[in-house]
Amino acid sequence: MKRERLDKVLANTGLGTRKEVKQLVKQALVTVNGTVATDPGMHVIPEQDEIEVDGHPLDYRRWIYVMMNKPPGVISATEDSRHRTVVDLLPLEWADRVHPVGRLDIDTEGLLLLTNDGQLSHNLLSPKKKVDKEYFARIEGQVRPEHVGHFADGITLDDGYTTKPAQLEILSSGEVSEAKVTITEGKFHQVKRMFAALGLEVVYLKRIRMGPLLLDDSLVPGEYRELTDDELASLKG
Ligand code: URA
Repeated sequence: MKRERLDKVLANTGLGTRKEVKQLVKQALVTVNGTVATDPGMHVIPEQDEIEVDGHPLDYRRWIYVMMNKPPGVISATEDSRHRTVVDLLPLEWADRVHPVGRLDIDTEGLLLLTNDGQLSHNLLSPKKKVDKEYFARIEGQVRPEHVGHFADGITLDDGYTTKPAQLEILSSGEVSEAKVTITEGKFHQVKRMFAALGLEVVYLKRIRMGPLLLDDSLVPGEYRELTDDELASLKG
């Protein structure tokens, strides 16, 4: 368990900015293990130490797991010099603590998990674990039955890399086609580049599943919620 500054821990639980929580300490409203804290920079172990603010035990949760329906136009990173990021959409007490599990392109929508659980994140992203990711794609051009075989066999991308077997399910086929794609890897722009290698252009992409975790349909783009216990259990499976 990690030792952290008291003011950081207080701010992370949503009690206010660092400056504001320092005032709480100055006003002698914060106790650590029964003793009034005088130094906002003192180190505490939030899972272990009993911290009270104005007589109320601090509600500190070590682990945060958030499902977001990522909207287009935001970057799936924790900071970016030019664009808003997915963590900018979260309340401050989460934003400072979580990171996105993997990346979606700026124009891609859909399921994005954000957490401070590095182990889970690692497990979900590790190529060895082959966690499948399912996407809904709208494609300019006709997706044809023979493309299903190409996806299953692996497609050689523009950089010479041949993708692992992937699943293509054609939902509709015409001037604009719709399909579901399931891949087990996460190469840069992978789905778009797989279609591009077949002469087709993805014009809309949305992730709808990651392993056992399904995007909650009731979340509109930009909305998020915590994972349920069942969802978390299935991910940790
Ligand atoms: N494949 C892509 O091309 N883009 C994404 O955002 C995710 C998968």
